[in-house]
Amino acid sequence: MRLGVNIDHVATIREARGTIYPDPVYAAVLAELGGADGITVHIRQDRRHIKERDVLILKDIVKTHLNVESSINQDIQDFLVKVKPRWVCLVPERKEEITTEGGLDIEKFQTETKTAIERLKSAGIKVSIFIEPEKEIVKRAREMGADAVEFHTGKYAENPIQSEIDRIEEASEYGASLELEIHAGHGLHYRNIHPLLRIKEIEEFNIGHAIIAHSIFVGIERAVREMKEIINGKKD
Ligand code: PXP
Repeated sequence: MRLGVNIDHVATIREARGTIYPDPVYAAVLAELGGADGITVHIRQDRRHIKERDVLILKDIVKTHLNVESSINQDIQDFLVKVKPRWVCLVPERKEEITTEGGLDIEKFQTETKTAIERLKSAGIKVSIFIEPEKEIVKRAREMGADAVEFHTGKYAENPIQSEIDRIEEASEYGASLELEIHAGHGLHYRNIHPLLRIKEIEEFNIGHAIIAHSIFVGIERAVREMKEIINGKKD
């Protein structure tokens, strides 16, 4: 199981004061030293944290793989097609939200989602879609040509009950049977990830807030290493 470290919130601190520090680029290097298998950033339409400059530098310096989360917005898609990160994860976006609130409604935004997938894939970028862990949505993601689905684990994180774990597990098994790569993330932290580690179909977790929050006390390298040890089953 891979760990993608989302470093958005390093940039959130930078933007809070409009300074040039702390630099998410430093965070990416340290996260990789701590064992991150990938670096994830979300370039939002309001640029509240990650900006074009960050994505461009990260594309050059990340040694693992760069995964950029983005809405289906045309301008950002144009930018990503030029930059060509290894992965793009299509997510829903609402201006007023504090963080991504749920999976992308790929039925409602069918045309935009399909167009984005086609454009990104023809630029050689792998595409995942951030969706709710529901079989019907997984099936549609596959039909639209996604390489992977990332399951939104927010509901599980808010209410970690067995039925939520089962829902993620069933959707993961189904997705893998359709030869989709399975990713998961949102709201995961050092104490709630354990039950999901038993779902063998999940190939990648994308975790941000909890790791960056912990890094305030222990540094980024150690915060990432501790999460990696949990994922590898070396630490409770
Ligand atoms: N995966 C996706 C698609 C996300 O949008 C986010 C939040 O930016 C994450 C994972 C990471 O969530 P968290 O910061 O709660 O770990």
